[in-house]
Amino acid sequence: MPPVLLKLGTTGYRFARYYTHSGSYVEKGPPALPMRLMAPFFVVTTIGVLATGVWLLLLGHKSDQLLFFHKLFFFVWGAIFVIHFLVYAPRVVRSLRSDWSSARRHAVPGSGLRGMLVAASIGAGAALALSLLSTIGNWHSG
Ligand code: HEM
Repeated sequence: MPPVLLKLGTTGYRFARYYTHSGSYVEKGPPALPMRLMAPFFVVTTIGVLATGVWLLLLGHKSDQLLFFHKLFFFVWGAIFVIHFLVYAPRVVRSLRSDWSSARRHAVPGSGLRGMLVAASIGAGAALALSLLSTIGNWHSG
């Protein structure tokens, strides 16, 4: 959840800067139309699958209706995720390669902060998962 919240935060920030007419964001332009149309469904199903998952966890027992919505959100999210990943993976490889090249790192401020935020979100995710391990026990005991 923390890495996903970081991702929704950063893309939400870009969205807000674009629609408040911030120069460099307007210059970069919006995502390609199909990705732009899919984004709201991707955000809603991401929040849906995580929220119903946590709700099931806290409920501690099987709720058919909640499980139905959890699966529904997951199937829609999964289909969008596959497209999102295939479309953007090449760009991620390119941007990571250029970001890591030291010349670039010096030219682009904030790389330290980005690295720290990503590391912190992954660390928080691992800590959250470990702290909730016992809560999952109920499900295993069925
Ligand atoms: C739960 C997982 C994820 C969510 C909720 C998510 C959400 C989003 C959203 C809402 C956008 C902005 C709209 C758009 O450009 O399509 C976006 C952009 C993007 N995503 Fe994801 N994403 C996820 C996972 C990934 C993964 C795994 C990759 C790696 C391949 C990725 C790479 C990108 C890239 C490269 C952009 C464009 C960023 C830019 O142009 O500034 N995303 N994502």
